[in-house]
Amino acid sequence: MLEARNVFKTFRPSLGIAGEIRKLFGRAPQGGTQAVRGVSLQVFPREILGIVGESGSGKSTLGRLFSSLLLPERGEVLFEGKNLQELTKAEKLLFRRKVQFMFQDPASSLNPRLTAGRTLAEGLVIHKIGNRASRQKRVLELLGEVGLDPSFARRYPHQFSGGQRQRLSLARALSLNPEILIADEPASALDVSVQAQIVNLLLEEQKVRGLALVIISHDLALVSLIATRVAIMYGGLLMELIPQDLLGHINHHPYVKALWASAESSLAKEQNLILEGEPPDPENPPPGCPFAPRCPEAQLICQESSPPFKEDIPGHSVACFSRGESAPAPPEASPQPLTLGNQSR
Ligand SMILES: Nc1ncnc2c1ncn2[C@@H]1O[C@H](COP(=O)(O)OP(=O)(O)OP(=O)(O)O)[C@@H](O)[C@H]1O
Ligand SMILES: [Mg+2]
Repeated sequence: MLEARNVFKTFRPSLGIAGEIRKLFGRAPQGGTQAVRGVSLQVFPREILGIVGESGSGKSTLGRLFSSLLLPERGEVLFEGKNLQELTKAEKLLFRRKVQFMFQDPASSLNPRLTAGRTLAEGLVIHKIGNRASRQKRVLELLGEVGLDPSFARRYPHQFSGGQRQRLSLARALSLNPEILIADEPASALDVSVQAQIVNLLLEEQKVRGLALVIISHDLALVSLIATRVAIMYGGLLMELIPQDLLGHINHHPYVKALWASAESSLAKEQNLILEGEPPDPENPPPGCPFAPRCPEAQLICQESSPPFKEDIPGHSVACFSRGESAPAPPEASPQPLTLGNQSR
């Protein structure tokens, strides 16, 4: 449905006049933050794909590349087999309806000057859907769907709590009936009970609407409960792609082992990670595996060259030179609703 093929994205500092002139003469600017460094990943219809990694690993950048909010400098993103950069105007408009992105920080992604009602109607107006009356009806339906009172239509974003703003953000993403929803850290800024409400709401919408849901999160414990596949990123690269039923049951990439150990230990989970050392400098990533400097299993080769990202079991891929034999897979599990804290809306 949606596919990234070997995509790269580097954020370069502004060039200045001298740099712009050099660029005119075909000299590519050097340096910058290498946020995504060659990622290939597919999103399948109706799946829940988790993208997990530490802060700065390139998750949001990959999500933005998927939703065409950023363009890759190398590689391509395809929607239903077509390169996003080659879509016609009409196809682009359709893509913008079908693929929606929920921003990591809803407070800054919602227009502070628009009421919730206008925020929700905006997409319908842009896409010329319905008339004034039908749009108003739709706005109230959407508010109800995400558990917000109809009176909230007249409120401005600053008059919402964090959890309510996230609900509004979800309602806006759903307003155009998308087929793919990319939710960037949908719950990380919220307390545990509200987190569970938002995640359960997302799961409910995914199920009812048959959406493909991409959840970007630093929280492997949470994602492992709900995602059908989990992609693990580190230093702008994919380290491992794991079907849910294999998670915790195979010999994982050393980085994933550390993440999984911390996800399983509640104390370590509170501290987020039990890894020592720092992630790589995105402006100057190491030549080999980006995790090698922190990896307890690193060999000489890991410092020198980047391990290829290869499928070893059907549906499972890993980028690591020191992989052992994998244990057999346990029976299949299906996503469970979260049971953290208070479940009421
Ligand atoms: N617009 C930008 N301009 C310059 N650098 C950027 C920009 N967006 C992201 N970066 C850099 O790219 C790298 C990857 O950032 P990204 O936001 O994708 O990480 P992330 O995995 O989503 O992190 P987090 O968990 O903190 O949200 C970081 O080093 C970040 O500083
Ligand atoms: Mg992010």
